[in-house]
Amino acid sequence: MADTHKPILLSGIQPSGHLCIGNYLGALKNWVNLQESHDSIFLVVDMHALTVRQNPAELRQRCLSYVAQYIACGIDPEKSTIVIQSHVPQHAELMWILSTLTYMGELNRMTQFKDKSKKHAANINAGLFTYPILMASDILLYQADLVPVGADQKQHLELARDLAIRFNSTYSDTFVVPEPCIPKTGARIMSLQEPEKKMSKSDDNLNNLIAILDSADIVKRKIKRAVTDSGSEVKMDKSRPGISNLVQLYSLITDLSVKEVESQYSGKMYSDFKTDLGNVIAEFLEPIQKKYNEISKDKDYLESVLAKGAENAFYRGRKTLSKVYRKVGFIQPAR
Ligand code: TYM
Repeated sequence: MADTHKPILLSGIQPSGHLCIGNYLGALKNWVNLQESHDSIFLVVDMHALTVRQNPAELRQRCLSYVAQYIACGIDPEKSTIVIQSHVPQHAELMWILSTLTYMGELNRMTQFKDKSKKHAANINAGLFTYPILMASDILLYQADLVPVGADQKQHLELARDLAIRFNSTYSDTFVVPEPCIPKTGARIMSLQEPEKKMSKSDDNLNNLIAILDSADIVKRKIKRAVTDSGSEVKMDKSRPGISNLVQLYSLITDLSVKEVESQYSGKMYSDFKTDLGNVIAEFLEPIQKKYNEISKDKDYLESVLAKGAENAFYRGRKTLSKVYRKVGFIQPAR
């Protein structure tokens, strides 16, 4: 049940593609760090994933796998609530109310909509366009104070804040206005082959990303093949996005500062650095994968985590939604 003494934290990830090291460093790492001090809710946003065509059997399997990966990465279901978005119908219900307060112009400006429309030109569905309203409802439904995300979600979060403020000023104080929490480093991990674009878990080219579940051999091979620009110095440099991304990854995984990484590899070759980076990432992922392999076999355990999560979230969602329905002028059903 909700711990009323702690600020509320909410975040989520779309179960599309392979959960990757970008998601970990941009979001999940912060979730783990903040779960002690916050009453935290972590969503697997399966409803969002439907904005891109999914294979139903794979989606179902992936949702469970993401839950196991959250736990393997350090989310403790005894301390935090893990929820599948579609288990709580109030997300969609609140979305309708919020969509009546959202302007078309606001949705038109969303860069993610523009990017995804280009990528999925044959399926520019209305859900892709209204997606940021569903995300706002995920956040506002639980009265979240804090939302830890990577840099690419900043614009969506601003809409959530604007909608909270707009609802409050239209109907009187109802929603907490959420604060984003974007890490200073790691908020934008770049693709390995095309380092001018962000690493994406649903990239068709798997060489662009390191998945949390990639084997050690695959990790090492992908890092070896990563683009490193011309030049030879292992150094952060805006004009060399490839090597800069790898230096950043090394620093984040080892907790060494960028300066320390640079001096450790001063005078050394790219190839030495890449071999070491492949090794440190593989070592970092090993205990996560071990835990994942144990948990993912235990379906009963995963289902019990989700049943508890859904019960808690449903209770909280219903509380907010009935308040919202009252404020907008809906009649409560007679009992
Ligand atoms: P999604 O599923 O694309 O990404 C999940 C989280 O990972 C972060 N992220 C990255 N961080 C650093 N470098 C990268 N290359 C990188 N790629 C992704 C994202 O910023 C995000 O924090 N709309 C959201 C999911 C969502 C949500 C929410 C988030 C739905 N409802 C409510 C927070 C609160 C999304 O598609 O994230």
